[in-house]
Amino acid sequence: MAVFFDEKKSLFTLYTKSSMYQIKADDLGVLLHTYYGKKTKNTDYSYLIFCKDRGFAGNPYDAGKDRTYSLETLPQEYPCFGSGDYRSSALRIRTVMGYKAIDLRYEGYEVLEGKYSIPGMPAVYAQEDDQADTLVITMRDEAESIFVYLYYGVLENLDVITRAVRIENRSEKPVYLEKAASMCLDQIYGSYDWMTFYGKHEMERELSRTPVHHGIQSVGSVRGSSSHHYNPFVILAERGASETQGSCYGFSLLYSGNFLAEAELDQINQTRVVMGIHPDQFEFELRPGEEFWTPEVAMAYSDSGFEKMSHIYHETYRNNLCRGKYKKARRPILMNNWEGTYFDFSGEKLAEMAAEAADLGVELFVMDDGWFGKRDSDESGLGDWYVNEEKLGCTLAELSDKIHDLGMKFGIWFEPECISEDSDLYREHPDWAFQIPGRKPVRGRYQLVLDFSRKEVRDHIFDQMSRVLDQVKVEYLKWDFNRSINDVYSAGLPAHRQGEILHRYVLGLYEFLQKLSDRYPDMLLEGCSGGGGRFDAGMLYYCPQIWCSDDTDAIERLKIQYGTSFGYPVSAVGSHVSASPNHQTGRKTPLSTRATVAMAGTFGYELDPMKLTEEEKKEIRGQIQNFKEYYDLIQDGRYFRLTSPYEEEAYTAWEFASEDSSEALVSVVSVKTYANAAPVYVKLRGLKEDQFYLMEGKRYLGGALMYGGFRLPAFRGEYESWNFHFVMEK
Ligand code: GLA
Repeated sequence: MAVFFDEKKSLFTLYTKSSMYQIKADDLGVLLHTYYGKKTKNTDYSYLIFCKDRGFAGNPYDAGKDRTYSLETLPQEYPCFGSGDYRSSALRIRTVMGYKAIDLRYEGYEVLEGKYSIPGMPAVYAQEDDQADTLVITMRDEAESIFVYLYYGVLENLDVITRAVRIENRSEKPVYLEKAASMCLDQIYGSYDWMTFYGKHEMERELSRTPVHHGIQSVGSVRGSSSHHYNPFVILAERGASETQGSCYGFSLLYSGNFLAEAELDQINQTRVVMGIHPDQFEFELRPGEEFWTPEVAMAYSDSGFEKMSHIYHETYRNNLCRGKYKKARRPILMNNWEGTYFDFSGEKLAEMAAEAADLGVELFVMDDGWFGKRDSDESGLGDWYVNEEKLGCTLAELSDKIHDLGMKFGIWFEPECISEDSDLYREHPDWAFQIPGRKPVRGRYQLVLDFSRKEVRDHIFDQMSRVLDQVKVEYLKWDFNRSINDVYSAGLPAHRQGEILHRYVLGLYEFLQKLSDRYPDMLLEGCSGGGGRFDAGMLYYCPQIWCSDDTDAIERLKIQYGTSFGYPVSAVGSHVSASPNHQTGRKTPLSTRATVAMAGTFGYELDPMKLTEEEKKEIRGQIQNFKEYYDLIQDGRYFRLTSPYEEEAYTAWEFASEDSSEALVSVVSVKTYANAAPVYVKLRGLKEDQFYLMEGKRYLGGALMYGGFRLPAFRGEYESWNFHFVMEK
């Protein structure tokens, strides 16, 4: 049991392997947050709280004449707007009378065996051997009969605490949720940095680290999806925390739509983190008897830097979030035709490419955008999910048979949520696309977005897709989404409920993905949104891998994959070798370096194999052999960031070490070279100190490699790469 309740003190203490989280219901029933950090013996941490009249800090009526008691200065579990706390709130509701206030007080609790799940939304789950408990704390607003249930999933051995909230209207009138965050964390003192992952199309998840300063700092998305621009994963790090030292807290939202993550430093230097659905464009009507679930946040605390925190997320998301056959089964090495042909292909061309790919050892051939409807450019065809046999010059079955006859698997690209104005579907159902009556919509890549909050729209697309998928054997599906949402108006809901659309859209997307994986359980789903525009933990529940970025430049990928690795496992990172010069940057890099970088992901190729020289083909055969050999180490091993591309300009290095430390693979890419350069060393991690390791005929002590280091060969030029495989001596 990982949840302890001290009745006399009304104190809840949650334990994971190395962290501890504490909550206290005080005499007024206010739910205080007293501690989150390194595990200690159970003691009441509320002794740290110091109350003083701060001036202009209001006092709840039931605090009597105690001017020192104020919700504005107390650390709280789930602070509400209108209760006298003027900091960023977790919950804001509007009543039918038009006022905005809610005051939640403790009602009771329940401890459930196992980890809770959330209807229709992703959630971390416990496996058979995991120790997992759920604490549910009931809070109540007396005046409005609103009940709020705070869910805490305590995954002891995984070192993770999850949070989600269920809000129930037990009154006789509707109420309107204007903000319903998934969590709040109040730290009563400390200097923290706010680490977020920002970016753009073709350059996702760049690391930003800034001191938390007075006021509110936030990242979020109002694009309808989690976005390239800010990721729904943030870190609160003690000033000075590094890869291996210092305290840090990770917050990962399992949600693929609009989100907001805020950090606020208040008047007395307390730090508050609030995370959940973005309140912009959000208003949810809760009728009498109805309930609302927020998405889940997975929190991880590390007392020894980012590395440990990342390992917690890697393990949890690999084993306790991803599902289906390919959670464990080896993912096929793929070739995707996109950068090889773009829209310009025929069935014959693809079959030719596939034959060449098969000869190289590739296991899955993916036909990307352009095979359906009228689709020779991105200006038309989306929404018409029937095979364009004229363009292919054959039926899909004929093409698929040819590919299967080569001993390969076959995969197809879809973009189910979007529609082109030049499509049969649009001509028939223009109102199925998000558009505001009387206004011209904002186009993105010439296309519009289908209203996935409506069941009839989803069902129609599902039927079209299954007609294709039932026709031929398809072992892989790439689910793309190539624009941000605008013109949010749904004919499916009345005027006063338009604020529900974007959340209902995400629920619709999740329902669709679930239906698809139920019907085709053996099909591997890869998520994508113009590369990594929806790279989030919500999508990972349905798709065990996500195309990480449309930027396939190996050198730019060093930063993209570095940033991604803080919150997501390597097994989630779609990464391909593409042609040189690179199509996005024009940079020339050796084939070996492109493979080294793509191997820190799901690995595949995205180029025209007909253009390869014999020498390159030979090299690729070797790369495929290598990847297969290292597959378990890469996909299931522990991943270490040995250098930061933001701090070390000359080279980037990372390492995979097996769980039992019996082997490690160190990859290095040189980024900048200098004349008469000083020797360069890296310190390995995750080895056994007292064991010896063999590498290219030499013998090294594990402790020496970790604390003394390993000297890298002199760089011969920029963009060279090396892979060093260390194996423990038997
Ligand atoms: C997006 C994807 C690409 C490719 C194109 C096709 O940009 O990220 O990989 O599938 O769409 O249009």
